[in-house]
Amino acid sequence: WIKFNVFNVLCILCMFNFYVKSVTHEVVHHASVFSFSLCVCPANTSLSVFVDTRAVLHCPNATSNVLVVTWSVIFRDNTSCIRAYRTDSNKTREKTCTDERISWDSRPDQNFALRINPVAITHEGYYKCEVVTPDGNFCHGHHLQVLVPPKVTLSLGENGTTVCWAVAGKPAAQISWTPMGDCHTVEERLGNDTVTVQSTCHWEDRQVSEVSCFVSHVTGNKSLSIELNQGNYLSLLVILYVKFSLFLVIILVIVGFTYFQRINHCR
Ligand SMILES: *[C@@H]1O[C@H](CO)[C@@H](O)[C@H](O)[C@H]1NC(C)=O
Ligand SMILES: *[C@@H]1O[C@H](CO)[C@@H](O)[C@H](O)[C@H]1NC(C)=O
Ligand SMILES: *[C@@H]1O[C@H](CO)[C@@H](O)[C@H](O)[C@H]1NC(C)=O
Ligand SMILES: *[C@@H]1O[C@H](CO)[C@@H](O)[C@H](O)[C@H]1NC(C)=O
Ligand SMILES: *[C@@H]1O[C@H](CO)[C@@H](O)[C@H](O)[C@H]1NC(C)=O
Ligand SMILES: *[C@@H]1O[C@H](CO)[C@@H](O)[C@H](O)[C@H]1NC(C)=O
Ligand SMILES: *[C@@H]1O[C@H](CO)[C@@H](O)[C@H](O)[C@H]1NC(C)=O
Repeated sequence: WIKFNVFNVLCILCMFNFYVKSVTHEVVHHASVFSFSLCVCPANTSLSVFVDTRAVLHCPNATSNVLVVTWSVIFRDNTSCIRAYRTDSNKTREKTCTDERISWDSRPDQNFALRINPVAITHEGYYKCEVVTPDGNFCHGHHLQVLVPPKVTLSLGENGTTVCWAVAGKPAAQISWTPMGDCHTVEERLGNDTVTVQSTCHWEDRQVSEVSCFVSHVTGNKSLSIELNQGNYLSLLVILYVKFSLFLVIILVIVGFTYFQRINHCR
C-alpha cells in the first residue's frame, strides 16, 4: 500500500514537472515568435472587399529595422490564425492557419502584406499586423467586411402582381419602384449571412403600362423594367377581331343587298 502511494506521488510530481516544462517552453516560444498582445493598436480601419476577389492587407511602415512581424486574425466565427516572420532567422511560423486562401502576399522577407485570394464570407473578421523594431512596436488593425452583390430579377407574379428579387446580397439590398405601387417587401436571411429581398407589388386602379424596379446596394445599383399591359393587349386584339368580323358581315349584307337589287332591276 505504501509502495503504491509513493509511486503515485512520484508520478504526480513527474507529471507536474513535465507540465511546467511544457508550459514554460510554450511561453518562451510565444514570447519569441508570437509577440502579440504586447501592443494595443492605436487605430483600426474598416476595409470592405467584394467576395471572390483578391484582397491585400498591409502592415504599418516601420521607422527602423524590423525584428518580427506578426499577423493575428480573429475570424467572425471566433476561430483564429497567427502568422509570424522573424527577420534575423528569415523564418516564418504559423498557428492554426488552415485556410490556404490566406497567405503572405509575396515572400515575407520582401513584403509583410497578407493576401486573401479569393475572398469568402468566412474571411470577415479582425486582422492585426504588429511590427516589432528596436524602437518599439507598430501596429495596424483592419476590420474586414465582405460584400456580395445580389442577383436581381423582375417578373410577373400571380394575381396581376409584379415581383422583384435581390437574391443573396450582403448586406441586404433596398428595393424601390417607379411608379410607386402597393407593395409588400420581405427579407430572408440565408445561412451564410447573405439576405434575399423580395418585393411584390400591384397597381390596381391605375393605368400603368410599364414599371421599374430599382435595387440599391453598396456594390452597385440596378434597375429593371417590365411591361404590364399584356392582358390589355389581348383584349385589344379581341375587340379588333370582333370589329373586323362585324365589318365583314356588314359588307356581305351590302353586297348581297346590291346583288339582290340588281337581279330585281334586270327583271
Ligand atoms: C481595434 O479593434 C479591436 C478588435 O475589435 C479592439 O479590441 C480594439 O480595442 C480596437 N482599437 C481601437 C483603438 O479602437
Ligand atoms: C508606407 O510606405 C509606402 C511607400 O514606401 C507608402 O506608399 C504607404 O502609404 C505607407 N503607408 C503608411 C500607412 O504610411
Ligand atoms: C465570439 O466571441 C464573442 C466574445 O468572446 C461572443 O460575444 C460572440 O458571440 C462569439 N461569436 C461566435 C460566433 O461564437
Ligand atoms: C529567406 O528564405 C527564403 C527561403 O526560405 C529565401 O528564398 C530568401 O532568399 C531568404 N531571404 C533572405 C533575406 O535571406
Ligand atoms: C389571388 O387572389 C385571391 C383573391 O383575391 C386570393 O384568394 C389568392 O390567395 C391570391 N393568390 C395569390 C398567390 O396571392
Ligand atoms: C449564400 O447562400 C446562398 C443560398 O444557400 C447561395 O445561393 C449563395 O451562393 C451563397 N453566397 C455565397 C457568397 O456563398
Ligand atoms: C445607388 O443609389 C443610391 C440611392 O438609392 C445612391 O445614394 C448611390 O449613390 C447610388 N450608387 C451608385 C454607385 O450609383
